[in-house]
Amino acid sequence: MIEQLRNAASEAEKRLAEATDLDQLSAVDSEFLGKKSVLTGLKKQLGGLDPDQRRNAGQALNEARRRIETAVIEARTRLESGALHARYEAERLDLTEQLEQIERGHYHLVTQARDRLEDVFVGMGFRIAEGPEVETAWYNFEALNIPEWHPARGSFDTIFVDLGEPEEVMLRSHTSPVQIRTMENQEPPIYIVAPGRTFRTDTADATHLPAFNQIEGLVVDRGITLGDLAGTIDSFVHAFFGGEVKSRLRPSYFPFTEPSAEFDISTADGTWLELGGCGMVHPNVLRNCGIDPEQWQGFAFGFGIDRLAVMRHQLDDIRELVNNDVRFLRQF
Ligand code: DAH
Repeated sequence: MIEQLRNAASEAEKRLAEATDLDQLSAVDSEFLGKKSVLTGLKKQLGGLDPDQRRNAGQALNEARRRIETAVIEARTRLESGALHARYEAERLDLTEQLEQIERGHYHLVTQARDRLEDVFVGMGFRIAEGPEVETAWYNFEALNIPEWHPARGSFDTIFVDLGEPEEVMLRSHTSPVQIRTMENQEPPIYIVAPGRTFRTDTADATHLPAFNQIEGLVVDRGITLGDLAGTIDSFVHAFFGGEVKSRLRPSYFPFTEPSAEFDISTADGTWLELGGCGMVHPNVLRNCGIDPEQWQGFAFGFGIDRLAVMRHQLDDIRELVNNDVRFLRQF
């Protein structure tokens, strides 16, 4: 009988180790441990044995039961984790294929131009500065040497914001107010560029947008001359457009610079394109910011980033930049 029990346990262990699913497992379970099983049958015979034999046989019976139960638990653990794994495999989504189908976007043309400008100027030792898009008359005009009576105020086509008294508030019509904010907050030497959005009442046409982007440059240091300005513009133009492109300054007028100039870049067909304005910071502007013009000199420049993108990519119409037609934008 003891021999029979050991064989039954070994047989059950072997079958459980070979079971490939949970159905096979419960079949083996009931065959060896259930009501009609070998073990149950032998257990019933225990009563007919004499006490010594009964003790030995009882021990063998418990031993066999333990072995089979352990094997059942092991097999169940193995099969259940396998079943779980199989389910994970079956439910798994392969996303790589779908990802490949999604077209990757890229930065907008104007953002690309702005990033490149920042890179070029940072490479030349400038820091990036920022200012608010809504400004008071002090920053947008007065501190820039454009008092209320000045005819230049009219030429800015300013969009005003009606906040009532006491201050005149407007969407900034250029990035030049960032010059004032920087000089108010920082001692010279100052080397900054300030890119950002600017606004005017202009109606959108092939060369104008009512909301556009400018970049302002400001240097304030000791012994700064017009030569430093011309050299800086030239280096920037080379870095941005490439070595063959030349720059030139043409005398002009801005209230916040003296002398003032407009700067142009050369084109492949030998003509010049106007890029922006520049000049030596007017002593009144320095004084308005508490900087002594006898000790410090500066130059400033400003130009449109959208226009620059238009020139660089030879677009016919600046409105393409804001039409948001992806078929157009995706080309750049
Ligand atoms: N703020 C001027 C404009 O929007 C451009 C400009 C001209 C900026 C000369 C400057 C400058 O810093 O020196 O028309």
